[in-house]
Amino acid sequence: MTASTLKVRVARKEVEAADICTFELVRADGGALPPFSAGSHIDVSLPNRITRQYSLCNDPAESHRYLIGVLKDPSSRGGSKAIHELVKVGDVVEISTPKNHFPLAHEAKRSLLLAGGIGVTPILCMAERLATVGADFEMHYCTRSRDRTAFLDRIQRSSFVRRVQFHFDECSDDQRLDIAVLLAEPNAGTHLYVCGPKGFMDAVLSNARRQGWEESHLHYEFFAAEPVKSDADGSFEVMLSSSGKVVVVPKDKTVVEALAAAGTNVEISCELGVCGTCLTRVLEGEPDHRDLYLSPEERAANDQFLPCCSRAKSARLVLDL
Ligand code: FES
Repeated sequence: MTASTLKVRVARKEVEAADICTFELVRADGGALPPFSAGSHIDVSLPNRITRQYSLCNDPAESHRYLIGVLKDPSSRGGSKAIHELVKVGDVVEISTPKNHFPLAHEAKRSLLLAGGIGVTPILCMAERLATVGADFEMHYCTRSRDRTAFLDRIQRSSFVRRVQFHFDECSDDQRLDIAVLLAEPNAGTHLYVCGPKGFMDAVLSNARRQGWEESHLHYEFFAAEPVKSDADGSFEVMLSSSGKVVVVPKDKTVVEALAAAGTNVEISCELGVCGTCLTRVLEGEPDHRDLYLSPEERAANDQFLPCCSRAKSARLVLDL
């Protein structure tokens, strides 16, 4: 365990909706947990030795527990299946202290919160925070059906229920979310937050960009993705600027894997290009960005990349390592 990790005990595990469980985590030594802000996540080390990120969805004012909600994804690479099937009440697991890559923008005059499926976890926390401070916001929550809608009761009993619109795929077309209409009038004071499946987020973000929303007003967090691999992937070299050492990255290995084999470890967590832990500065060469973490501007600058999934378009990258 390090200074940034904690042992927590699973105090409660409940079925929240079809295929979705919540896990209430309390400090194993009984103390208070480190504070967090809306949009934060924790890294959870799972019994099958992989680490996954889960957004905190309880009230940030609470210090006695963290609450996470997890969808059992049939296409899971082991994360959601492991936590659903292997983690039980009473188990002690290691987590990181909270990190926030998806914070609320304090300068926003109005917030538009869009959640797709289990992407509701950080969005709900944001809605509760905005309601607590009396901020202006509107939330849209899209799910396949009512029985797959996590936190339905909690939202319906909340003080801000009138600010929330539910959109169920199973219902009539007229209550489905019309993204183009919703985003039709970008406003200088309005910030957009979106979390959900990749297809949903791509649709929202591409629509917003097309309709002229400022990039700095778009806030998003991808929570799962399969790294893009291609048969056309080739090998390339990375050079470590500190030592001049050159490492060949074969076509079937990631930069992180190739560096580890050569004795250089980069800190990693998700290994899916979503958490930002492995972010590394690029001093020369052109990365082939495969992550879902960097914004379009950050990608275009080509001065940093995520070596757990991204590759190179140039024959060599010089890295600030
Ligand atoms: Fe999460 Fe690379 S380890 S983005």
